Amino acid sequence: MSLSDDKHKITDQINQTNSLKELEELRLEYLGKKGFIPNEMKLLGSLSIEEKKSKGQELNQLKQLIEESIKEQKIYIENADLNQKIKNENIDITLPANLNSKGKIHPITQTTFDIIEIFGHLNYSVETGPDIETDFNNFSALNIPSHHPAREMQDTFYVEGKKNEENNVLRTHTSPVQVRTMLKTKPPIKIIVPGRTYRSDSDSTHTPMFHQVEGLVVNKNATMADLKSTLIVFLKEFFHVEDLKYRFRPSYFPFTEPSAEMDVAYTKKNNVIKIGEGDEWLEVLGCGMVNPKVLENCNIDPQIYQGFAFGMGIERLSMLKYGITDMRGLFDVNYKWLEHFGFNALDIKTRSEI
Ligand code: PHE
Repeated sequence: MSLSDDKHKITDQINQTNSLKELEELRLEYLGKKGFIPNEMKLLGSLSIEEKKSKGQELNQLKQLIEESIKEQKIYIENADLNQKIKNENIDITLPANLNSKGKIHPITQTTFDIIEIFGHLNYSVETGPDIETDFNNFSALNIPSHHPAREMQDTFYVEGKKNEENNVLRTHTSPVQVRTMLKTKPPIKIIVPGRTYRSDSDSTHTPMFHQVEGLVVNKNATMADLKSTLIVFLKEFFHVEDLKYRFRPSYFPFTEPSAEMDVAYTKKNNVIKIGEGDEWLEVLGCGMVNPKVLENCNIDPQIYQGFAFGMGIERLSMLKYGITDMRGLFDVNYKWLEHFGFNALDIKTRSEI
């Protein structure tokens, strides 16, 4: 048999192997120390110079071809093995999850979730609005006309309006979303509005950007008693305190009449605040019956409809619930702080699980 016949036989053999073991056996058979090629090389010694030269060349070419074929077949087998492995592999969904989470949920986000969840159970839906508001939505519609002293209750950031247009503001509270909602929907309305708010104020208890949750209920028979019971249920749920000690104090807001502020009692032992009992009081929210003028400004007939509203600061509630003492920590973007006060995403429980 000539070497060129051998060539086809050998490459066919190589291409038909199915395992690395078979391939290795063939390699030894042809290229190994005592294999076919080295044997043939040895025989060259007995040939004439001419024959030696041409046969030697042929043998070298064959050797090279075998080496290359083996290399290619090796890659082919390895790929086939890998594909087979992937095909057979199945994921065991009963294995425990890897709980080494990388990031944390910020306490403000967590507190917002807490609040939304409680009001969700009371059938409120969530509305949102833009951070940049018109003067009308933030002030005038809410019964705070320009040059009214009540504007000074809230140090406002103004945003220059377009030419010949009035200036916009960074909303100083979430109340403008009351206006937006009343202008676009007919009562009954039952909403809460979480969101960012801004006032030009900065010290250890104020930051220029902060968060509020607003509540608004408008229907034909909402009363102050409904407002009070709603807020009491909310705060008991929020702080997980059944015998919560609280009080309503008369107050003033241009957009509610009558208006009140709600305080919860607390004690401080060893620098730790305990909510719900004791003789000290902390203000936690503002509220009242929607001023009929506001309903009118939003095209709702105050002869037919009435409502109540409330607004609370998320930072204050978050600090009280989670024992955070310096408000500025909430916005310092300090990873260590967040590691300590933040929440693991998988720890967020729905209320029914608590
Ligand atoms: N908007 C008020 C504030 O930011 C809070 C509030 C809302 C009071 C709704 C009464 C009713 O101070």
